[in-house]
Amino acid sequence: MPALDNSPRLALIKTLSDGQFHSGEVLGQELGMSRAAISKHIKVLQQWGVDVFRVQGKGYCLPAPLDLLDEASLQSKLNVPTFSLVPVIDSTNQYLLDRVGQLTSGTSCLAEYQQAGRGRRGRVWFSPYGANLYLSMYWRLDAGMAAAMGLSLVVGVSMAETLNKLGAEGVKVKWPNDLYWQDKKLAGILVEMTGQAGDAAHLVIGMGLNVAMPETDSVDQQWANLKDTSSALPDKNTLAAALINGVIDALKEYEVSGMNGFVERWDKFDNFKGRAVKLILGEREVKGIARGINEQGALMLETEAGITPYLGGEISLRADV
Ligand code: BTN
Repeated sequence: MPALDNSPRLALIKTLSDGQFHSGEVLGQELGMSRAAISKHIKVLQQWGVDVFRVQGKGYCLPAPLDLLDEASLQSKLNVPTFSLVPVIDSTNQYLLDRVGQLTSGTSCLAEYQQAGRGRRGRVWFSPYGANLYLSMYWRLDAGMAAAMGLSLVVGVSMAETLNKLGAEGVKVKWPNDLYWQDKKLAGILVEMTGQAGDAAHLVIGMGLNVAMPETDSVDQQWANLKDTSSALPDKNTLAAALINGVIDALKEYEVSGMNGFVERWDKFDNFKGRAVKLILGEREVKGIARGINEQGALMLETEAGITPYLGGEISLRADV
C-alpha cells in the first residue's frame, strides 16, 4: 500500500504555526483546495494532537505559535549532518531499526508526530504533533551488547548536561534511563539493538523529550515540560542539534574510556542519590537508600545488608518515609 501523502496537512500546519487566525477561504486559496478539504485536514491535525480551534468570522488558529523542526536549520547545526526529518512517522526508533545495514554511527531520525511511539517495557510513548522532541540515533558499538547498559546512562548524562548548558535549570537524571525535573519525568530513553552475541552491537537510541506536552487525559502520568525549566530556551532545531551533537561526543568518549568520568558526571545530576527509594524487580521489591551508580552503570542500593549493585529494575521514591 503506498504511503499516505501528508503534504497538504504539513503545509496547513506550517501556515497555522504562526499562531495567527487564518480563514478557511484564504487557506483554501493558498493551498489550492476547497474549504471543505481544509476542514477535513484540520480534523486530521486534531487527531495528531494539534489543538486547532475555529472562531466564527475569523477562521482557524492555534493557541500559541508552534516551533517546528526545519531541515535546513538542523543541517547547519549538526556536526554529523546525516539525518532524516520525517514529520509523520510510526516510530523514529523503528525507522532506523529498519535501515540498520545502511547506516553509519551518528545518523539520526527526527519527527514531529509518532503514530506508534514506543517507550520501555512495551509502553506507548505519547507523541502529539510539534509539541515535543522525538528523535533517534544509530550507533555501532564494537564492544558488543554487554557495553550497552553503560551506554544508555551516558546518553542520559549527556542530555542533562546539554539542557543545562542551554539554560534549563534543575534537570536531573533518574537511573537508568530518564531525565527528571521537580520529581517528574521530563524525558525517556529507549535503547533497542540488533546483532549477534560476541559481535558488534547495532544500537538505536531513542530520546523523547517533553517540551510542551498539552494537558490531556490520555497521558497516564504527570509530565514535566522543558518549557517550564527556563524562560530563555533556544528553538527546537537548536535544541535537537545540541542534544544529538552532545550524545555523539559522549558516545565517542564512552567507546574510548568506558564509564570512566561518567560516574562523576552522573552524580552531579542524580535525582535520587541519598533518597529513600524502592526498586521494583518484576514481582520483587527492594527498599533502600540510593547511593549513586558504579562503573558498570549499576544502581548502588543501600539496605540493612549493605550496599548492593543492581543492573535491572525501576526505581521510584518511597512514600513511607
Ligand atoms: C521511556 O519509556 O521512557 C522511553 C521513551 C522513549 C521515547 C522515544 S521518542 C523517540 C523514539 N521513538 C520511539 O518510538 N521511542 C523513542
